[in-house]
Amino acid sequence: MKNTVILYDNPHDIKKAAQEIRKGKTVVFPTETVYGLGANGLSPQAVTKIYKAKGRPSDNPLILHISDLSWVNKLAIDIPQDFQTVAENFWPGPLTIVLKANLDLIPPEVNGGLDSVAIRIPGHPLALELLRLANLPIAAPSANTSGRPSPTSHDHVIEDLFGRVDYIFSSGETYLGIESTVLDMSRGKAKILRPGSITQEELQEVIDIEAYKEEKSGPLLSPGVKYRHYQPKAEMLVILGEEGKVREEIKKKAEMFIKTNKKVGILCFTKDVEFFENLQGEIIAMGSEEDLKEVANNLYKSLRAFDALGIDYILSRGILEPKGLGIAISNRLNKACGNNIYRI
Ligand code: TXA
Ligand code: MG
Repeated sequence: MKNTVILYDNPHDIKKAAQEIRKGKTVVFPTETVYGLGANGLSPQAVTKIYKAKGRPSDNPLILHISDLSWVNKLAIDIPQDFQTVAENFWPGPLTIVLKANLDLIPPEVNGGLDSVAIRIPGHPLALELLRLANLPIAAPSANTSGRPSPTSHDHVIEDLFGRVDYIFSSGETYLGIESTVLDMSRGKAKILRPGSITQEELQEVIDIEAYKEEKSGPLLSPGVKYRHYQPKAEMLVILGEEGKVREEIKKKAEMFIKTNKKVGILCFTKDVEFFENLQGEIIAMGSEEDLKEVANNLYKSLRAFDALGIDYILSRGILEPKGLGIAISNRLNKACGNNIYRI
């Protein structure tokens, strides 16, 4: 067990964290999407500590976070022309760009031995200042134990990683609630590997990209997709279909579980809440279906809340025809339930 030290959002602590990163220590810091578990991205020993703290398989590559574009020319080779356009439009921000890696500089521990590397300039002021002062690329996956929902507040991080890392920044809630979009620009036409906070539509306004397809089989381009992800402790079922029918089905299934003394959680939209009011279950609204930013922001928090309540079975509404941010939300819901999806 490590002696984890809590840091706060002030110049003294940020400077301290930057020095400690340079010494090979692990630091959990907030980004605008979710908290990241950071370490010196050029040091194999430091990066190995990340995998160990998370219990993450080491062939699942990490994102290198940088503070300014000058790092890209050092970390990547054969950078396509479109890269500049994308970076100018979306960095700093919740977009991760995969480029061909400069393997002379990037340890295989970072990119899982691939020929590519994932890079992002985050938009959170604390993260940017930490990166600037550390003056190194910081490798950082989401700061959850492997498989659990990503942490959107320092409480979540403490729950998962206290005693497993050297430092944790206590810096409230993140702003967006789901991870960055991963865009592959390392081969041919740019392609979304993981939908996220920047939508496909936003990207398409500036470059030609291949649309995201929710794939259950086929070649694994984003190695992270093959692992168990974002899952609450409870069993979970996502129900898709016409609104009224879905509500009825959730109610019917909830009553069935309640009869067998199971603790049931219902994950729904704000306007559904009154419909479930008389059920003996825990009801959590992710937000309004019309405000997907709110839904994204509450998603992981809600899944963790069900865990804290000791729920056995989560019944969730899904998004029938996802568009915009709905694509990323659907993707995370599908992963959270381990693709246990019921269409009516
Ligand atoms: O918002 C985020 O992206 C957060 C914050 C902390 O920046 N980070 C994050 O990291 O979500 P992680 O490790 O949980 O997810 C990184 C994703 C994984 O799906 C991984 O497979 C993919 O990026 N990835 C990393 N390097 C890659 C590469 N070279 N080629 C393809 N996919 C890659
Ligand atoms: Mg993650």
